[in-house]
Amino acid sequence: MASSTVLCSYSPRTSNTTSPFICIINTVQHMNLQPTRPHLGLIVAMAENRAIGKDNDLLWHLSSDLKRFKSITMGHPIIMGRNTYFSLPRKPLPGRRNIVLTHAPASLVEGAEVAASVAEVLHLVADEEMAYVIGGASVYEQLLPFVDILEITQVHATFDADVFFPIIDHSEFSLVQEAGPITDEQAALSYSYQTYHRRPHPQHP
Ligand SMILES: NC(=O)c1ccc[n+]([C@@H]2O[C@H](COP(=O)([O-])OP(=O)(O)OC[C@H]3O[C@@H](n4cnc5c(N)ncnc54)[C@H](OP(=O)(O)O)[C@@H]3O)[C@@H](O)[C@H]2O)c1
Repeated sequence: MASSTVLCSYSPRTSNTTSPFICIINTVQHMNLQPTRPHLGLIVAMAENRAIGKDNDLLWHLSSDLKRFKSITMGHPIIMGRNTYFSLPRKPLPGRRNIVLTHAPASLVEGAEVAASVAEVLHLVADEEMAYVIGGASVYEQLLPFVDILEITQVHATFDADVFFPIIDHSEFSLVQEAGPITDEQAALSYSYQTYHRRPHPQHP
């Protein structure tokens, strides 16, 4: 049976960001989670209105969030759509298998492995301990049903956008860790880090 626990610790202020609290929630429920294979995570930064991008670009520049993205994904395969891959300032992202969903021939997607379907992506990461879905909107939408862990940077603002993260069914995921709010003074934005784990299936606790 799952029980709820909340543990919080204080992190001191850094030069241009504030990160007052780190909390671990539902620790016991987290430990009961039965991982499935492949173990798939998803990482996204989204606004309060679920906005994630416009004109095939990001909506903000949050340097500590980019560092967190790097530290979470480093060493693991990253899965993305063709638009996201072509939007990267540096590609492929180093130290990770870059897997790109596209119907285009592999020769047009230099530096990455190519998959032509969700099934092919799942096959490509089947033997990996962990892989991360990194966007964009169409790929989040299609792979969300297969994801075990959500790493969300929740930006506390709304943005005009042309791509949005799908609605999360909170009956399927539990919040296990939250840190923030953090203030980025350069970007004039505050944001929080939230980690969700897929709830165990009721018939397979
Ligand atoms: N805030 C964030 O955390 C974040 C993260 C990532 C991206 N973004 C933003 O998201 C936006 C891009 O998202 P998007 O939805 O426009 O594009 P996307 O998901 O990155 O790429 C879409 C393309 O992926 C290919 N694709 C998707 N599903 C496929 C499937 N099942 N089989 C084969 N190919 C498939 C198709 O390429 P082909 O046309 O070549 O077949 C499709 O046109 C950008 O603005 C980017 O900055 C934001």
